[in-house]
Amino acid sequence: MIGATGLIGRQLVPLLSSRGHDVTAASRDSGVDLLTGQGLDEALADAEVIIDVINSATPDDSAEAFFQQTAANLSAAAAKAGVGHYVVLSIVGADDMAPKAGYIRGKIAQERAAVTSGVPWTVVRATQFHELAEPITESLIVGDELRAPEALIQTIDSAEVTAILARIAVDEPLNTIHNIGGPQKMSFSDMARAVLRHQSRTLNVVDDPSATYSGLSIDYTTLVTDDEAERGITRLAAWLARR
Ligand SMILES: NC(=O)c1ccc[n+]([C@@H]2O[C@H](COP(=O)([O-])OP(=O)(O)OC[C@H]3O[C@@H](n4cnc5c(N)ncnc54)[C@H](OP(=O)(O)O)[C@@H]3O)[C@@H](O)[C@H]2O)c1
Repeated sequence: MIGATGLIGRQLVPLLSSRGHDVTAASRDSGVDLLTGQGLDEALADAEVIIDVINSATPDDSAEAFFQQTAANLSAAAAKAGVGHYVVLSIVGADDMAPKAGYIRGKIAQERAAVTSGVPWTVVRATQFHELAEPITESLIVGDELRAPEALIQTIDSAEVTAILARIAVDEPLNTIHNIGGPQKMSFSDMARAVLRHQSRTLNVVDDPSATYSGLSIDYTTLVTDDEAERGITRLAAWLARR
């Protein structure tokens, strides 16, 4: 597993280990730098499956080069090591957002590296994690009001993303994109109201057609799945209350 110390990685390592799988937990701390390729061949020795849940420390346009380089290194090493399944975690709506954001173009490059590696693959595209609901809400506050993009969002519990990845990784490769999303499609304004209620804060929430998501202007359904997608079960309000 590459990205083993991240939000998803640190949940996925113990989950797979508890099911009896022999997990190599790779990140820079363990001596594996995917940017330079250092330690990669050793980490992949005897690997049957690789799971790429790496992330760029900078979620801006510089992430495009980061994902291109790290994914090129990983796909070459995966093919060389004779890995049987190459799993990548990506983002729902990536195709729509890629022309406008280097980070997302990087995610597409990360997906393509798996698809073209010659190794059987599965790309899992997830919607935003529940963990992002509070920071996104905070980012929408302008002065004494909150200005929400006129779009839907469908946040999902990262623990459910982890469980789905754990299932998919040990199954037969799908050789396709598998979309997963949270149980509710809600407007940004409703998500913000749920967060503010949880934080016992009162702010005027306004739908604003010119408001953006992290600087991106998005269409109404860019961030949500279609009806065939796999859905999580934990709703945002329940997840916030549980924390
Ligand atoms: N957040 C969301 O709502 C969301 C939604 C859908 C998909 N995703 C995708 O989910 C993936 C995982 O996200 P996350 O939140 O778990 O990421 P994260 O918490 O930021 O963790 C990133 C991981 O990448 C590792 N890493 C970074 N640079 C590295 C390098 N050069 N070599 C080796 N490892 C490196 C980090 O380890 P060290 O720094 O210790 O090396 C860490 O383990 C991301 O690709 C993201 O695009 C996120």
